[in-house]
Amino acid sequence: MLENKVCIVTGAASGIGLAIAKKFAEDGANVVMADINEAKLMEEASKLNAKFIKTDLSKREDCKKLVDFAVENFNGVDVLVNVAGIQTVSPIESFPEDKWDFMMNLMLTAPFLLTKYSWPYMKKKGWGRVINLNSIHGLVASEFKAAYVSAKHGLGGLTKTCALEGGPFGITVNSICPSYVRTPLVDNQIADQAITHGISADEVIENIMLSKCSVKKLIEPETVADVALFLCSSAGDHITGSMLTIDGGWTAN
Ligand SMILES: NC(=O)c1ccc[n+]([C@@H]2O[C@H](COP(=O)([O-])OP(=O)(O)OC[C@H]3O[C@@H](n4cnc5c(N)ncnc54)[C@H](O)[C@@H]3O)[C@@H](O)[C@H]2O)c1
Repeated sequence: MLENKVCIVTGAASGIGLAIAKKFAEDGANVVMADINEAKLMEEASKLNAKFIKTDLSKREDCKKLVDFAVENFNGVDVLVNVAGIQTVSPIESFPEDKWDFMMNLMLTAPFLLTKYSWPYMKKKGWGRVINLNSIHGLVASEFKAAYVSAKHGLGGLTKTCALEGGPFGITVNSICPSYVRTPLVDNQIADQAITHGISADEVIENIMLSKCSVKKLIEPETVADVALFLCSSAGDHITGSMLTIDGGWTAN
């Protein structure tokens, strides 16, 4: 399906980004892996025989550098998967302002810039896929996550706008919106919440993270990667502008 397609995956050194990079590489794609964590990126990219580039995507110039790198190596971009992201949990009155700026740059401005820079190459081929790793927090809110929820809601707006612009050129643009996925980002939250609430890790998962889900299991990163691959298939030709939930029923509440 992705044979010879050039696929940029950000946040590719860990968690969901890494699972997507693996799945795409197994499917025959030319994968370009980007992440700020150079050591982990090198280690994982060498296993997949993929190209990689260290990038701090909160910086505008690194977004440009990433697309240029893909084009220099493979002469274009067919698929862009925006995954890199972080979480900050704090009440609004003490929410760190520098974290707000960083998260907006990384989780909203970077997807905008990478889409903008990749767009002409997709347009030229008459085919393209932009997949934004969104969240149920692009659809609903949780307290103490002002920057995350705001960036992800903004990413939904970017998804829908670009979907409208991309249709005539065979470019689809979608958000994937998972609830909790078992990754290092979530492992850290489990550990923090266990300490905050004085409960075990299992109790955090059951009583807090899965409380709104009818499927009482954390999602595995490979499941999200399967959905990303599906969007790249011909079955995805007419799926655009969607906020595709993988949430075990969270937002059905
Ligand atoms: N894990 C979940 O439960 C979950 C749920 C919904 C959505 N998401 C979204 O999925 C995405 C990936 O999350 P994950 O759980 O795989 O996290 P993760 O921490 O395992 O991976 C995130 C990656 O982003 C990279 N990164 C961080 N800052 C960067 C920067 N400035 N420039 C480039 N790369 C940077 C990290 O080094 C890391 O490799 C995020 O956008 C997150 O919001 C995650």
